[in-house]
Amino acid sequence: MTPDDLDAVLDLRKRSFGPTSASERDRWRRAVTPVLGEGRYLGVFEGTRLAAAARLRSLTQWWHGRPQPMAGIAGVTVNPEDRGRGVGTRLMRAVVDRAAALGDAVSTLYPATTPIYRGVGYEHAGAQHNVRLPAEALRGIRPSGQVKLRRMGPDDAAELISVLHRVYAATRVSGPVSWDERTWSLWLEAEDDFLYLADDGFVIYRWKGDDILVDSLVAGSAETARALWTLVGSASSIAQHVIAPVAPDDPVLWLLRERGKEQVKQVRWMLRVLDVAAAVERRGYPVPATCEAVITVEDPLLGGGTWRLEISGGSGAAVPVAEGAGASGAVLTANGLAALYSGIPTATLRLAGLMSGDVRYDEALDMAFAARPYMLEYF
Ligand SMILES: CC(C)(COP(=O)(O)OP(=O)(O)OC[C@H]1O[C@@H](n2cnc3c(N)ncnc32)[C@H](O)[C@@H]1OP(=O)(O)O)[C@@H](O)C(=O)NCCC(=O)NCCS
Repeated sequence: MTPDDLDAVLDLRKRSFGPTSASERDRWRRAVTPVLGEGRYLGVFEGTRLAAAARLRSLTQWWHGRPQPMAGIAGVTVNPEDRGRGVGTRLMRAVVDRAAALGDAVSTLYPATTPIYRGVGYEHAGAQHNVRLPAEALRGIRPSGQVKLRRMGPDDAAELISVLHRVYAATRVSGPVSWDERTWSLWLEAEDDFLYLADDGFVIYRWKGDDILVDSLVAGSAETARALWTLVGSASSIAQHVIAPVAPDDPVLWLLRERGKEQVKQVRWMLRVLDVAAAVERRGYPVPATCEAVITVEDPLLGGGTWRLEISGGSGAAVPVAEGAGASGAVLTANGLAALYSGIPTATLRLAGLMSGDVRYDEALDMAFAARPYMLEYF
C-alpha cells in the first residue's frame, strides 16, 4: 500500500477495532509510513476500494537464546461487508508469501480467532502470560547490592536493544521479541510511561486506574531483578494491583514471599515456519543435545519436503533429502512443524493429529526443540 491508502486503512481499523484518539492515529501514521516502501503493509482491493489489510512488522525473535528476524503479523482486518467470503484467507496467503519473500524464516501473530490463521499454516505456539499480583506482594522483595538505574528516553533505543541481546542470549529464552530501533524510539517517547534502564535490564510501566501496568521488565542478574521489581512495588501505597507480562517461569514468581492461587491471563500467539532450512539453522538448541532426525513436512502453501535435521553444539542444520532416497521419518503438517519448533511435545502433536509416521526420532526432537515460549510484547 501507499501513503494515499492510509485514510482507508484507518477507516478499516475503526470498523474492526473501534475508534481511536487523534494522537493514537498520529502515532500510528508515524509508525507505518516508513514501512510502506518496504512492502510491509498489504491490502486487498476490489477495483480501487480497499477491502482488507495486514501489516508485517519487522521484529527480532529469540529461540533458545538466538535472535532471528521474524515477521510479526498485525492489524489483520477485513471490512465488515466483505467478511465471510474468503477475503481474509486470500490476504493471509499473500502475507505468508510476502513474509517468506522478505527473507524471514518464521512468523508469529496474536490471533483474535484461530481458523483463518491455522488454515495457512500458523499453529498455537506460546503466550503472553499476564500475572496480576497484589501490589503489596512486591513490598517483600528487598534490593540487594548497588544497581544503577537511570531514566531512559527515545535516544536510549540502541542501548536497550543491546541489553535485550545480552540478557536473552545469557538466559537462553524462547519466544521474546524486540522491535527495531525506530519503533523502540517511538515507544520510548510515551509521555505517561515510566522508563528505567540498568546495565543489564530495564522496566517500562505506567498507571492504569488504581493499578500499575508493567509493559515489560527484563533483568539479567539477581540484583537488577530485585532493583526493578522493588521500583515497581514502591507504588504499593497507592496501587491496588500490579499487572505484568512475565515468563511462565519468571524469577519474580520465586522472589515473592507467598505464592498460592495465581491469576495469570494467557494471551496466545501462533507461529508459522516459512523456510525450514533457515528456521532450523537460525534457532538455538541446548548445547548437550546431539541428535539426528528425519522429518517430512507437508506444506501445500509454501511447498514441503524431507529434511535430515542435525543438531549438535547448540546449532542445527536441515539438509534436504532427495525424494526416493529411502529415508523415512516423522511426517508433520505445516502446523505440526510450527508447534514442534515451539517446543510442543511430539506426544501432543501425534495425539492432536499434527504429526504421524516413524516414531523413532520423537525423543530426539523433544530434546532438541524443548522450550516454554512466551512474549512480553503484544502487537
Ligand atoms: C477475522 C477476519 C479477519 C476474518 O476475515 P474473513 O474474510 O471473514 O475470513 P474468511 O472468509 O477468509 O474465513 C477464514 C476462516 O475463518 C473463519 N472465521 C472468519 N471469521 C471468524 C470469526 N469471527 N470467528 C471465528 N471464525 C471466523 C471462517 O469460518 C473460515 O474458517 P474455515 O476456513 O474453517 O471455514 C475478519 O472477520 C475481521 O476483520 N474481523 C475483525 C478484526 C479481527 O478480528 N481481526 C483479526 C485480528 S488477529
